Amino acid sequence: MDQPDQSASEAPPPTLGIGMVGYAFMGAAHSQGWRTAGRVFDLPLRPALAAVCGRDATAVRAAADKHGWAAAETDWRDLIARDDVQLVDICTPGDSHAEIAIAALEAGKHVLCEKPLANSVAEAEAMVEAAERARANGQLAMVGFNYRRVPAIAYGRRMVAAGRLGALRHVRVTYLQDWLVDPAFPLTWRLKREYAGSGALGDLGAHAVDLAQYLAGEPLAGVSALTETFVRERPLLAGVSSGLSGAGSAESGPVTVDDAALFTGRLASGALASFEATRMASGRKNALRVELNGELGSLAFDLERLNELSFHDHTEPAVTSGFRRILVTEPEHPYLEAWWPPGHALGYEHTFVHQARDLLEAIATGTDPEPSFADGLQVQRVLAAVEESAQKNAVYTPVQA
Ligand SMILES: NC(=O)c1ccc[n+]([C@@H]2O[C@H](COP(=O)([O-])OP(=O)(O)OC[C@H]3O[C@@H](n4cnc5c(N)ncnc54)[C@H](O)[C@@H]3O)[C@@H](O)[C@H]2O)c1
Repeated sequence: MDQPDQSASEAPPPTLGIGMVGYAFMGAAHSQGWRTAGRVFDLPLRPALAAVCGRDATAVRAAADKHGWAAAETDWRDLIARDDVQLVDICTPGDSHAEIAIAALEAGKHVLCEKPLANSVAEAEAMVEAAERARANGQLAMVGFNYRRVPAIAYGRRMVAAGRLGALRHVRVTYLQDWLVDPAFPLTWRLKREYAGSGALGDLGAHAVDLAQYLAGEPLAGVSALTETFVRERPLLAGVSSGLSGAGSAESGPVTVDDAALFTGRLASGALASFEATRMASGRKNALRVELNGELGSLAFDLERLNELSFHDHTEPAVTSGFRRILVTEPEHPYLEAWWPPGHALGYEHTFVHQARDLLEAIATGTDPEPSFADGLQVQRVLAAVEESAQKNAVYTPVQA
């Protein structure tokens, strides 16, 4: 007798319509995440790339075709109003995060918002209030600190939480890029306070702060900071910018954000932290490095070698101990159960696939996703304390609890 075909009788998972605002750098990365998540992981919800929004009708239609979105909109309000959109994914500069996220939550949509959550603490607070109101109706909100979804980082967090490092003494994060070294690089939105909120601080420092607090499992209590804008005038942008590129015109204008931010901090437990965020480190492209030193051991991570975690077990005899390389590609490592055999490495784009998976699972199970808008607000408060300290020439400044 023929056995019934199990796979044919299983109902496919329900779909969740995604609407994405912004289609350049992060828009492309998030599209990749939404497109791929359900093809790699067995998801309880299948993402449908319903519509993408941009302001130029021709360009957004081309982006929709390139990245696999069914429809194109030119006003984010129309995107939010669509019946086939249940989740709004915000990939625009920070100046529009609060307005879009609050409107989407109020319209009964789930929200994924790129980092930093907002351009100010006040905006971030309003977003958290909107998220709390929406939560009562079952809508969820998450902020896109995607580096938490690097398997080595997620595994490092597990090791810290399991006590492998013991009491933490130091957290050290440097996030170095070099795309602003050339003074002829144009004045894109990332160099204007009204669009970006801050410079290297909000762009790179926000990731650094989130990672430090996530890995340590505790918040920063206060900071002491220096910031600098080395190139104060730049050519105006000619045409459209995308991600970290753009062309300059003959006219110039003022840079109104920091080029670099250096700060030290104290974690709630008393551990000391140091941070460096700059877009002026010639030769460094996307060098995010983290090290934690504890009583029982140390962990180190380098985004340019993102499948690896360095671990030193300080309880081992000194004659044979030392940093060893953990290749984070085993099926037991976070996210790896669905990918390739051990040693077949992952990359940057996979963090966005993992981000999509985690959010879809949270929505399907009704659990609160992390990092939450409240986590994004807390990072915003650290950034505000850094700016306040820098204005006072590095005076130690508590982070608002
Ligand atoms: N998670 C990460 O690692 C990471 C990396 C880069 C950028 N980001 C964040 O992602 C966001 C976007 O950065 P990006 O690098 O993708 O910028 P980008 O300049 O490459 O793209 C911005 C997009 O937003 C669109 N846009 C701007 N205002 C709009 C509006 N009112 N309505 C519709 N579309 C609008 C632009 O047309 C463009 O498509 C920022 O918040 C940034 O900090 C995060």
